[in-house]
Amino acid sequence: MTTAGKIIKCRAAVAWEPNKPVVIEEIEVAPPQSNEIRIKIVATGVCHTDLYHLFEGMHKDGFPAVLGHEGAGIVESIGPGVTEFQPGDKVIPLFISQCRQCRFCKSPKTNQCEKGWAADKYDVMAPEESRFTCRGKKVLQFMGTSTFSEYTVMNQVAVAKIDPAAPLDKVCLLGCGICTGYGAAVNTAKVEPGSTCAVFGLGAVGLAAVMGCNAAGAKRIIAVDINPEKFEKAKVFGATDFVNPKDHDKPISQVLSEMTNGGVDFSLECVGNVAVMRDALESCVKGWGMSVVVGWTDKDNFSARPIQLIAGRTWKGSLFGGFKSKDGVPQMVKAYLDKKVKLDEFITHKMALNQVNDAIELMKHGKCIRTVLSVSSE
Ligand SMILES: NC(=O)c1ccc[n+]([C@@H]2O[C@H](COP(=O)([O-])OP(=O)(O)OC[C@H]3O[C@@H](n4cnc5c(N)ncnc54)[C@H](O)[C@@H]3O)[C@@H](O)[C@H]2O)c1
Ligand SMILES: [Zn+2]
Ligand SMILES: [Zn+2]
Repeated sequence: MTTAGKIIKCRAAVAWEPNKPVVIEEIEVAPPQSNEIRIKIVATGVCHTDLYHLFEGMHKDGFPAVLGHEGAGIVESIGPGVTEFQPGDKVIPLFISQCRQCRFCKSPKTNQCEKGWAADKYDVMAPEESRFTCRGKKVLQFMGTSTFSEYTVMNQVAVAKIDPAAPLDKVCLLGCGICTGYGAAVNTAKVEPGSTCAVFGLGAVGLAAVMGCNAAGAKRIIAVDINPEKFEKAKVFGATDFVNPKDHDKPISQVLSEMTNGGVDFSLECVGNVAVMRDALESCVKGWGMSVVVGWTDKDNFSARPIQLIAGRTWKGSLFGGFKSKDGVPQMVKAYLDKKVKLDEFITHKMALNQVNDAIELMKHGKCIRTVLSVSSE
């Protein structure tokens, strides 16, 4: 029996309010409208940005919402005007769109398409419109995607069609964390062969940044984390040196400067903490050192002494690793299938959707790299 054109009732994890466990509910998912696609989500990763919204950002207008933005699935049905997708296609929902028509899409300099929620909703972290309701209330689609749901609806400008051979329970990680860290190194920092790099924060995003530095030919990759349990994994992705700031009395920037004769060529902040962002900048060598902010936070201001920049350092930020999303994700899926990037090594836990609160707790306590939740069967 076809579900096309009908409301689908399915299970989703609803975050009713900040700082509370999410609740598995039956939600109604409306059929796709013009240029939209309804997707059956097969698997999803849990990323720290989900936790950021729930426990840190906690914007009052950002709830209730279905979290999750690192998923992969199969097209269930398409709305009018959709030509690029067919039911049955394997896809990855994208939290930043690529409309190919706006001035940002037309520029090779950026991936910040102006069509998606991300253009102006950083605080609420969801577009105003949603195709979800639960108990008679509108439920927001977090980051436009909402992958902690058996079904979601996306505009076709924010969906990537991927190789049918791709295992969805692995490539879901390319929907956020791995593209973000890897791209921050290769696209945003443009790490150079023979360089020395430092990566702060060794979650999936930071480890993917380590993998990117390694792929770009960095000679030395210093992995920095306050949780020493992360160092073993960092080795797998190519880190050469390991530093726990808690083992030192001096500022971490001084430690790194002494290790590298004046500072690293590239640093990447993958924590989401403004003090660490400053440390990462100050760990760079004067003259040409570049620091990239990858960690997500919009609550606090950061500060640094202007002389840091006057002395020739560059401070940049990176959203989704600088990848133009519709182009970049299928390329990264291919790179995984060709064994040029790793994904399996990031997955430390597998659970079912109804264990999502356990997965959130694991990440909160630094006990996982990525948990992949299985959401529906293929
Ligand atoms: N810019 C983007 O497009 C984008 C996309 C995805 C995620 N993010 C952000 O990237 C960050 C990392 O995400 P994740 O999923 O890998 O998170 P995670 O929680 O798995 O990893 C964070 C790591 O940082 C470490 N850490 C905490 N405080 C530290 C400190 N003071 N010094 C050094 N290390 C410290 C933790 O021990 C942990 O290993 C988050 O802020 C997330 O919101 C940004
Ligand atoms: Zn994410
Ligand atoms: Zn665009």
